[in-house]
This record gives sequence, C-alpha cells and structure tokens, in this order.
Amino acid sequence: MPPPLQAEDVFLSKLRNVWEADTFVKLTLSDPVPSEGAGVVRKIKARPVELKEGRKVSVVECFQTREVTKNYPVQEAVRVLAEAFAKGFLRAHLFATTGDFQFRRDSSGKVSVRSARPSFTQAPDFSHDKRNVAQDALARAPFLQHLGVTNVDGLPRPGMAGKLRQVQRFVEILGHLLEDVGWDPSRSVRVADMGAGKGYLTFALAHAFRERGWKTEVIGVELRSELVENANMAALDLGFSEVQFVAGSIGQWQPPGALDILVALHACNTATDEALFLGLQSGAELLVTSPCCHQEIRPQMRLGAPLLPIAGHGILEERQAEIITDALRAHLLEIKGYHARVFEFVEPEHSGKNLMLAGVRRKSGGRSVEVLREEMGAIWKAFGLQKQCLTGLLGEEPR
Ligand SMILES: C[S@@+](CC[C@H](N)C(=O)[O-])C[C@H]1O[C@@H](n2cnc3c(N)ncnc32)[C@H](O)[C@@H]1O
Repeated sequence: MPPPLQAEDVFLSKLRNVWEADTFVKLTLSDPVPSEGAGVVRKIKARPVELKEGRKVSVVECFQTREVTKNYPVQEAVRVLAEAFAKGFLRAHLFATTGDFQFRRDSSGKVSVRSARPSFTQAPDFSHDKRNVAQDALARAPFLQHLGVTNVDGLPRPGMAGKLRQVQRFVEILGHLLEDVGWDPSRSVRVADMGAGKGYLTFALAHAFRERGWKTEVIGVELRSELVENANMAALDLGFSEVQFVAGSIGQWQPPGALDILVALHACNTATDEALFLGLQSGAELLVTSPCCHQEIRPQMRLGAPLLPIAGHGILEERQAEIITDALRAHLLEIKGYHARVFEFVEPEHSGKNLMLAGVRRKSGGRSVEVLREEMGAIWKAFGLQKQCLTGLLGEEPR
C-alpha cells in the first residue's frame, strides 16, 4: 500500500493545478495552531497580483493588530503556502474559477477536501487586461498572418479562431513552464516540434523565444513532405533562420544533439508516445504534448465491476481509454524523474483535443518509483492491458 498523502502534498498539488490552469482567485489559511500567543499569525490571505516585474502572489500575514504583506514569485508562494498550511493552520479555503476547495487538516496531518461550486467564475480582471494585450500582439505577429491564421488586424480568418486560441494558450503556457524550468536566458535552447504539420506551433515557439531574446534552434519534424516544403518556404519568407523543418517519422528521427524542449501537439495516437520517448532519450528538460486519437488501449480494455456500466457506451469507453492512456504516460514521466502535469489547455469550445500533458524534469524529489510502478501495475491488471507504446519503449511493462 502506498503511504497516505500528507497535508502538504494534497494541498500543494491542488494549489499547483489551480495555478497552472490559470484559475486561481484567492486563498485563505485559518484556524492556526497554536491559536493563541503574541506572535501568532491568525490568518494568511493570498491573491495574485500583476506587478511591473511580472506576476506575483501577494501573501498577507494577519497578526492580532497588524498585517505583513510580501510578494512572492509563484513557485515560491506555492511552496510557502503549502508549508504554512502543513505546519501552522488547520483550514485552507482555496477559491478558483473552477470551484471552491475547503481543506481540513487533523492533528495527525491527515487532510480532507470538500469542493463546492465556484464563488468566482472570473479570474481577477488585471490578468485579463495584461493577457489580452499580449494575446492581441501575438495575433498580429507576421507569422500568423503569413500562415493564414489571422488578418492584418489580428483577427482570426474564417475557420481559424480555434487555431488562434491554441497558439495563444500554447505561448502563454510555455511562458509558465519556462518559469518553472528557470533557465539562464543567456544559454541557447534546442527545441523539436514533432508532428509539426503546417508549423503553426513551431513558428509560435520561435516567436516566443525571440520575444525573450533567447538564442534558439527550432526543428519541426513532419511526416508529410509537402507540408515540410511549404513550412521551410515560410521560414525563409519570414526570416526565421533559426527554424528548420525536416521530413521524417517521429519514431525514426534522430536529433542533431541533445534536446532541451520536446513538443508534440496532436501527434496522432502512439506518435505521442514515440515523441515522449525521444524527449526522454535526448535529455529534454521540458516535454509539452497534447495527446490525441488514442487508439491503442481501447481494443484491449476489459471493463469489469464496478466499471461495467461504462461498457457498451462508445463515447464513455473512448474517454475511459484516453484517461488510462494519459494517466499511464504521466506516471511513466514521473518514473523517469519528471514532474508530470495534466490539464486542459484550451477551452472545450475551441477544440475537443484540449488536454495537455507536460513534464518538467525534477532537480530532486518526486514520488517513490516502486510505488509508481505498483500503481501502474494495478491499472494494467484492472483493465487487462497487454501493451502500451511508451511503457514498452521504456521497458516498464508491469511484471
Ligand atoms: C493534427 S496535426 C497537428 C499539427 C501541429 N502539431 C499542430 O498542432 O498544429 C498532426 C500532424 O502530425 C503528423 N504526424 C502524424 N504522425 C507522425 C509521425 N509518426 N511522424 C511525423 N509526423 C507525424 C501528421 O502528418 C500531421 O501533420
């Protein structure tokens, strides 16, 4: 049996998810232990703030007669708040645009969580303002006009609103992930975009790095040679000398050296597994994928009690197979030393293919590999699985 999760883990993971999904509104820690005493912090309040130097979290410690405010970088705030909850408070109330979450910790460190409908369905306005400015600027970027996504006014061309939204969210999420990786901006970065298609995201990557002033080499790998030819012409026309497209299959392609970032958005079926494998093999610190067309697990999947009601409903079986596939992929990333994150990256109305699976290589820590393998084995057994592409490539089939 894996050990029960501790207060810090349960809370930390929820807080991170809420932050990564950009749904964080505010947080309160209350019911302090000890509850009395001169220097006791009676409550902590946290909310996001937009400062000149970027997004921070304002953390207010409320003493009996005064308040002390500190602004933390996001990652540090998440850590500080999780630690404060685990050590000094029995209740936490987290407000997100997706729901309200009430955590209670007992004296043994066990945590219960209750969720309720969101009290706030809108994130604080300031972030909208700033994000809108950045997104408008991106929509006007020459590469999006050249690729036929937007017109000169930065408005989506007919049928391209979903693609524009994907590109905008991708660039925004990439920014958050780069913050997590914490690279020195003076280094150069090699990025591979697997299953690059027409290169929308490949150019978006190059654009995002240019905006930061980073030196990059961006390689788009695509099966269809006509798309590769067109995309290379676009790179030439747009003056993106750091971008190159190559014709090839994800499973066969050899990168010219170690990769720093591996991207694969909507690479079909097991092409996502092959891309993740390549990223792991080539030492990429950041893996960004959006899996789609999950076809491998469904024909193998056996649905026994208590999941029998799923059987016979095509869409439910399909979603169940997707969930199992991506959960296994996330666990494999954790086993290989990455912090795996699964979240929706665009709103469902823009694309049904809206799940993102990202991995950031850990510098230290992580869950026990034995426990992760045990948990994988349990899924494998429960659903009668025979094979899963990434599991096989990594030689991680449960014994
Ligand atoms: C749905 S498109 C996504 C394109 C792009 N990533 C995007 O999100 O705009 C998938 C692309 O992956 C390519 N593809 C699929 N399997 C591949 C493989 N094994 N190797 C290389 N490219 C592949 C397809 O030809 C197609 O252009």
